[in-house]
Amino acid sequence: MKIIGTGSAHPKCAVSNEMLEKFLETTDEWITERTGIKERRVISTEKLEDMATEAANKALEDAGLTAADIDYIICSNVVNEYVTPALSCIIQGKLGAKCPTLDINAACAGFIYAMDMAEDKLKCNKAKNILIVCAEEPSRMVSWKNRSTCVLFGDGAGAAVVTAGDELKAIRLTTESMADVLYYQRKLEPTPYIDKEENFEPLVMRGREVFKHAVSNSNKDIKILLDETGLTTDDIKYFVLHQANRRIIDAIRNFLGVEEERVPHNVERYGNISSAALPALLDELNRGGKLQKGDKLVFSAFGAGFTTGACIIEWAK
Ligand code: UT7
Repeated sequence: MKIIGTGSAHPKCAVSNEMLEKFLETTDEWITERTGIKERRVISTEKLEDMATEAANKALEDAGLTAADIDYIICSNVVNEYVTPALSCIIQGKLGAKCPTLDINAACAGFIYAMDMAEDKLKCNKAKNILIVCAEEPSRMVSWKNRSTCVLFGDGAGAAVVTAGDELKAIRLTTESMADVLYYQRKLEPTPYIDKEENFEPLVMRGREVFKHAVSNSNKDIKILLDETGLTTDDIKYFVLHQANRRIIDAIRNFLGVEEERVPHNVERYGNISSAALPALLDELNRGGKLQKGDKLVFSAFGAGFTTGACIIEWAK
């Protein structure tokens, strides 16, 4: 597999920490110190499927392809207005593509899970060009009365077009069932027969536990992949880490012992946009002219589940 195009799209409504201070018992100082986040983009008038389509179109253009060239669409999404059809079906229609599509939910690690699936399809010659779209609106999962969660997230979309190649050097996925640490349960329709207790609540997160798991598992994943490929941190141009929290990013960077410049971040501008964070940050690096052919990149993400995913790729463009 190799990545041949990237794209991203963010909502227009920027919500600063100061704006949150007006209706929450919080301060810019607390949020900045604990998370590094200064503002997040939140859906107001946009539809998630339109943002996803915008990111996908940009990735196709960057790859020099059109929707007709795509053989499969994988969409990573945790929540959106439609339970059915899948978001990927809606995106397919908006793009004017004709290929099969599938949604996956591996929470914030979704981009790596999607790359793993894409690699398998390419290996089996079941597709030539695959579009991965990560589109997320976690702002609709949190209670905006809960200062512990709503300050952390933002909405957005990131996309990548992948095709056959041997630039995916190593990939690792893990899942450890820990549903009580980070979850969101939404209301289903009532029936005359339901006779059990049901729980409907906005996103619940045991922040400290997630923090510890995130740091130790990302460190472990990256170390395993480096050992597996015989590479060292010096061989890696950028460590593209999940953008959940600046303190988590810094803790992983300290473990790796690498300079700040090699661990890019945009969490301060977008907050945690779940699985869209990695492709959106990759798109920023790509469009900012920061990537050269042959550069090796590490990706690492973690999320509800608990899921983790990490991989090493060589930049092919
Ligand atoms: O994709 C996965 C997504 N999740 C994450 O990556 C989150 C990982 N966890 C974290 O980043 C951190 O645990 C948080 C940023 C969520 C919280 O930081 P913390 O240092 O673990 O704080 P805490 O949850 O232990 O809370 C400390 C205090 C509490 O007050 P008391 O009980 O000590 O009086 C909270 O009520 O901070 C309070 N607090 C706030 N205060 C001001 C929690 N949220 C806020 C807030 N403003 N927004």
